[in-house]
Amino acid sequence: MKILIIGARGQLGSDCCNIFCQDNETVGCDVPQIDIADPAAVDHWIGSLRPEAIINCAAFTAVDACETEVGPCWKVNAEGPKNLAIAARKAGSRLIHISTDYVFDGKKPVPQPYSEKDPTNPLSQYGMSKLAGERHIAEEGGNAVILRTAWLYSGYGRNFLKTMLRLSLANPDRPLKVVDDQHGSLTWSYTLALQIRELLHSDMTGIVHATSEGHSTWYGAARYFLQAMQVPHNLVPCTTADYPTPAHRPANSILANDRLDAAGISTFVSWQQDVDTFVDRFRDDLLEEARAALQKQG
Ligand SMILES: NC(=O)c1ccc[n+]([C@@H]2O[C@H](COP(=O)([O-])OP(=O)(O)OC[C@H]3O[C@@H](n4cnc5c(N)ncnc54)[C@H](OP(=O)(O)O)[C@@H]3O)[C@@H](O)[C@H]2O)c1
Repeated sequence: MKILIIGARGQLGSDCCNIFCQDNETVGCDVPQIDIADPAAVDHWIGSLRPEAIINCAAFTAVDACETEVGPCWKVNAEGPKNLAIAARKAGSRLIHISTDYVFDGKKPVPQPYSEKDPTNPLSQYGMSKLAGERHIAEEGGNAVILRTAWLYSGYGRNFLKTMLRLSLANPDRPLKVVDDQHGSLTWSYTLALQIRELLHSDMTGIVHATSEGHSTWYGAARYFLQAMQVPHNLVPCTTADYPTPAHRPANSILANDRLDAAGISTFVSWQQDVDTFVDRFRDDLLEEARAALQKQG
């Protein structure tokens, strides 16, 4: 199968490239080769390559920066998916587009999860722009999946777990405040990529939720990870009010993988099992990367 992976240098894009290149003709691309906000560039890439499937992992993912860089955020997260949906339909390609838990306001009582049928109500520019991207894809119709995931981490790129590791290594005794009243499902981009492979070969279209099983807070996730890494730390649980950020985030980000479960194609395990495997596989690399970053900082 000829597959185009866009956003190939990012967390999920890197894992998708690694997995799909094993048994497919895989082409990965990212900025500056392709800018999904540029309709002509998208049309040219997809029109000349004519892939059977496109996996769009590209997005403006800096949630807080989206509050000030509103124009670029909407160009990439709302217009980008529209450009891709039009080009995919023209080329007859199956499109898997990645979206987010931040399309919800998180007002459901924890631990009630959000299903694919729940009404959306984003709290941030990031969430609003991603929802607009979803709507463009739905309007275009065609053979498209809008896959909502949450709280991604990976061996590649930057993420919350790596930040916790770096800060704890820098000063294990310094109290590190971590939000303990936002709930979600930490999801390893590698296991998400495996799930996308299943989905690609199914005939499912429309909105699909896809996160690891179980849930925690950011504090719970960081504590579990640092314990698994056997890195000394001094995490202190705090509230969202204690740790204000430019973007509002949902207090409940827990998603139910209802459609994957109903179709019997969910490949997810618990988030703790995934963190254990992640640590087994990447512990030395993660420590080396974090120490190198600290040395560079001086
Ligand atoms: N990370 C999370 O916790 C999370 C949670 C829920 C949903 N998601 C969604 O999951 C998907 C993958 O997330 P991720 O964490 O893997 O993202 P990521 O690591 O930030 O990777 C995104 C990639 O897209 C590239 N990109 C940005 N603008 C582009 C453009 N205009 N054209 C082409 N490529 C562009 C980025 O390049 P530069 O780095 O050079 O900008 C980067 O390589 C995204 O759709 C995101 O919204 C993520």
